[in-house]
Amino acid sequence: MKQMPDEQRPNTRVRRDFAGLRVVAFESRQAAETERLIEKSGGVAIIAPSLRELPLEANDMAFTFARHLLDGGYDLVVFMTGVGTRYLFQAMETRHPRGELVTALGRTTVVARGPKPVRALRELGVPIAITVPEPNTWREILAAMDEANEGVALSGARIAVQEYGEPNDRFGAALRERGAVVETVPVYRWALPENVAPLVGALRQIVARTVDVALFTSATQVRHVLQVADKEGIEKAVRSALDEVVIASVGPICTEALVESGLRADFEPSQGKLGVLVRETSESALELLEARRRRPATRARIVERAVAGSDAAAQLESSVFMKACRLEPTPYTPVWLMRQAGRYMQEYRELRARVPFIELCKTPELAAEVAVTAVERLGVDAAILFSDILLIIEPMGLGLEYVHGEGPSISRVVANADDVARLREVDPAESLPFVFDAVRKTRAALDPSVPLIGFSGAPFTLASYIIEGGGSRNYVATKSLMYRDSGAWHAMMELIARAVTRYLRGQVEAGCQALQLFDSWVGCLSPTDYESFVLPHTRAVIEALPRGVPVIHFGTDTATLLDLQARCGGSVLGVDHRATIGPVCERFPTLAIQGNLDPVALHALPSHIRSEAKRILDEVGGRPGHIFNLGHGILPGTPVDHAIALVDAVHELSAR
Ligand code: CP3
Repeated sequence: MKQMPDEQRPNTRVRRDFAGLRVVAFESRQAAETERLIEKSGGVAIIAPSLRELPLEANDMAFTFARHLLDGGYDLVVFMTGVGTRYLFQAMETRHPRGELVTALGRTTVVARGPKPVRALRELGVPIAITVPEPNTWREILAAMDEANEGVALSGARIAVQEYGEPNDRFGAALRERGAVVETVPVYRWALPENVAPLVGALRQIVARTVDVALFTSATQVRHVLQVADKEGIEKAVRSALDEVVIASVGPICTEALVESGLRADFEPSQGKLGVLVRETSESALELLEARRRRPATRARIVERAVAGSDAAAQLESSVFMKACRLEPTPYTPVWLMRQAGRYMQEYRELRARVPFIELCKTPELAAEVAVTAVERLGVDAAILFSDILLIIEPMGLGLEYVHGEGPSISRVVANADDVARLREVDPAESLPFVFDAVRKTRAALDPSVPLIGFSGAPFTLASYIIEGGGSRNYVATKSLMYRDSGAWHAMMELIARAVTRYLRGQVEAGCQALQLFDSWVGCLSPTDYESFVLPHTRAVIEALPRGVPVIHFGTDTATLLDLQARCGGSVLGVDHRATIGPVCERFPTLAIQGNLDPVALHALPSHIRSEAKRILDEVGGRPGHIFNLGHGILPGTPVDHAIALVDAVHELSAR
């Protein structure tokens, strides 16, 4: 195992402080104390109070709402936020007993937008009639209200909508369109300070790049800071400057507000207290700052690679990713992330708001844009074609649909030998031309030094979708066909294998440098079943692919199947996060290994992500032929900055 220098070990690290770094804090009530703490920890304090607490009595709207409520003036009351709900009650309870308010609400239909208002209402004893499903936007609220009314129009209904922070104009407008009489009940706890000059001054210093660290001690500070930046016309500049500032957050709620606002937290203290925040941030600040400011170097390296060679094909073949596939030594460990283009990325969500997923896959220009954007945003060492493993199912004569929030759904599923006999042979050149076009367009748009990975579902995983009609827990239908009619099973697997082979060859001809077979669900099988029912078919595919094009064979839950998977051929073996990668490397000395960070680790703080990356790199010990990746696809909801932090950490920690 490779030994790391002492200063990189957290437990033996020399004690450090801010050492003259410039630290901005947005704390208001404890401004003086914050200043003292920062200076005691060796920092230069820039104090920029960002809020002022309003007295409960300032909430006139809350009192008007309470009076109307007690008079039976509403049919429906919608609670949008947990914090706002609690605060609204605190204000109302200065004038009316809680019991009366709860009883009056009991006579209306109470709608709770999400888990937080639900919790607040339960604590207060308010009966909830309608809870809104995720992702809790105004569209879901409206849909839930429509559904609960069983088509009875909201026309004429008197509706109150509690608001906290941002008003939701579109929701109000949609209710009014349905003929409802809508009253909004904004509650305010925090206002901007009377004097925003220090805050504006601090923001200008951030833009001027004279700030190193930013300390956030509440969620409201995050909103106020961006609000003032917006008012000054410098929001974009502040956001981009914050890329090079260490952001420390007092705790998870504040971090959530940062992430929701498109920012991030680089650091959270072990305890959510001001003193601990300042002290612990001061101890890690230099290291974190260095990591943030090194980031442009990663990009520079990519550009350097791009201009180094002239012959395009030779340049791709000598990329770190291709070298690692061939088990050749590399200057650092290449990294890419399964599902690197997807819903966790804002650019993707914006596109998806306009274009359904299937359309994206079938529009080569857009597919190329999505794939390339992900590579550029993350700084990864390989691109993957933007498509889906299930597209190949349609030309077999099956219906494919992606149901919002539920994933794929297949109609006309295969249940028996007759169904198998009806499956159509697939000629991808004729039925999936858009995939090959997407490969060409992606290749053309990509940095010429970044290899493009083509892919397909492996025969078993495709068969499982064809038979189950979607995802499955126990694969009962799939295994039933396998056990009861092995003739039909093998006939189907052969047909799929032929389709997959043609499909992957076509992708190589169109411009892919490597291929990945996704056998995502094969881990549900015993080794014996794998050997009889799957191995021959996957091997047939790999054997028929062009020599010299690396094939990555990926599955999940495959710790007991790896030997058999290796027998299928292929030059790279995927391992998920349930396996320990060190021994896998030792067991397969002739194969490159790809994996194996738990995708959920990207929800942890960057400092944890970094130590996990280090753990895996140490485990592999610098052996040639490691491609760093997650154990399975990146999850929606993963902060993009955390994915970037992983890529940077792998590049930096593995540099040799
Ligand atoms: O960036 C990339 O990795 C390339 C694109 C890619 C997608 N799907 C895009 C996609 C790849 C390589 C896949 C493979 C895939 N698709 C697999 C194997 C990999 C794995 O995760 O095990 C599987 C099992 C599928 C089938 C599939 N497609 C499911 C189960 C779902 C829904 C669940 C989910 O994670 O969204 C899809 C839809 C899908 N495929 C999306 C994307 C970006 C989300 C669609 C949307 O925008 O709503």
